[in-house]
Amino acid sequence: MNLKNDLLLRAAKGEEVERIPVWTMRQAGRILKEYREVRAKAGSFINLAKSPEMAAEVTIQPVDILGVDAAIIFSDILVVPEAMNLPYEMVEKKGPVFPKTVKTETDIHALNTEDIEHHLAYVIDAIKLVKKELNGRVPLIGFAGAPFTIFCYMIEGKGSKTFSLAKKMLYTEPEISRALLQKITDVTITYLKAQIAAGADLVQIFDSWAGILSPEQYSAFAIPYIKQICDAIQETPVTVFAKGAYFAREEIGQLGCQVVGLDWNMSISESRKLIPNKTLQGNLDPCVLYGSFNEIERNTKAMLTAFGKQRYIANLGHGVYPDTNPDNVKCFIDTVKSF
Ligand code: CP3
Repeated sequence: MNLKNDLLLRAAKGEEVERIPVWTMRQAGRILKEYREVRAKAGSFINLAKSPEMAAEVTIQPVDILGVDAAIIFSDILVVPEAMNLPYEMVEKKGPVFPKTVKTETDIHALNTEDIEHHLAYVIDAIKLVKKELNGRVPLIGFAGAPFTIFCYMIEGKGSKTFSLAKKMLYTEPEISRALLQKITDVTITYLKAQIAAGADLVQIFDSWAGILSPEQYSAFAIPYIKQICDAIQETPVTVFAKGAYFAREEIGQLGCQVVGLDWNMSISESRKLIPNKTLQGNLDPCVLYGSFNEIERNTKAMLTAFGKQRYIANLGHGVYPDTNPDNVKCFIDTVKSF
């Protein structure tokens, strides 16, 4: 189907655009009262994510309410460990918890890598519904966690500031770590291809915990697996967002992806030099959105000027924070659209 607004896709492919496209990471779910109504009806995050109709509804809300140039499928990166036989729970005010974690080589052998499309059929069905309901208004972004970030949750079993259990595994059991990272990579490729077959127009790989690794470890345990994913996905543009991995920008810039996401710690001019041939995405500090409309406009315009109009997708440098006023998000989006 032809897209009516294909700015994001053209920018991703490095084609010329008449205005800068904009969306925000975590736009579905975190900030809208309309989301919370659907979430209350579903009873829990997991019920909502597993109901294609409701997931489709909250995916489209930001397009209607905020006017973003793309939708991102409402789901979570943790559906991959679940499909591999490590179910998660979403604990209120605490975040994800895995009752079962990976501790030994035997645990890795026990992980499922079969029938991924079947286990994740609820995401695939939600994508098909969103595509139908969007009717070509804007592109739909599919996503998955990067292998290292998924590895962190599988080993640690919950969020952590240091993920020291996961890092300990890298240092003490590198071969076992590689076996697990490879299994995650294989499943992720199958999963992203299924999202694309169902209608995802672009896919983003979230390496949310990239910044906790040393440059050497990032090169050894993160890059090779992201590279496999980028090389396997030829159907759509791929965005790699490695939060905190400022040290790996040059290496990420050489991967077979089309877009590189930046966080707000990464200098824009330096990033353009380190990644000369790709579209960049980002990188406003989400905390800017706590400021006045004037401050939001001033910071956003400075960012847009620094990036320039071409080979650029405006976004925040990480997901929008849950306590952000949607009017302020709208101010950010409108500032980009009228720039
Ligand atoms: O971007 C979107 O709006 C689409 C939906 C989406 C969710 N999670 C829904 C969600 C996306 C893209 C994600 C990605 C995700 N999930 C990441 C990578 C991006 C990032 O922020 O770094 C990570 C690390 C996770 C894991 C996760 N899921 C955590 C740590 C938590 C708890 C804290 C939080 O972020 O809210 C979740 C829960 C989660 N995922 C919620 C939503 C809407 C909140 C749950 C609820 O409604 O009760």
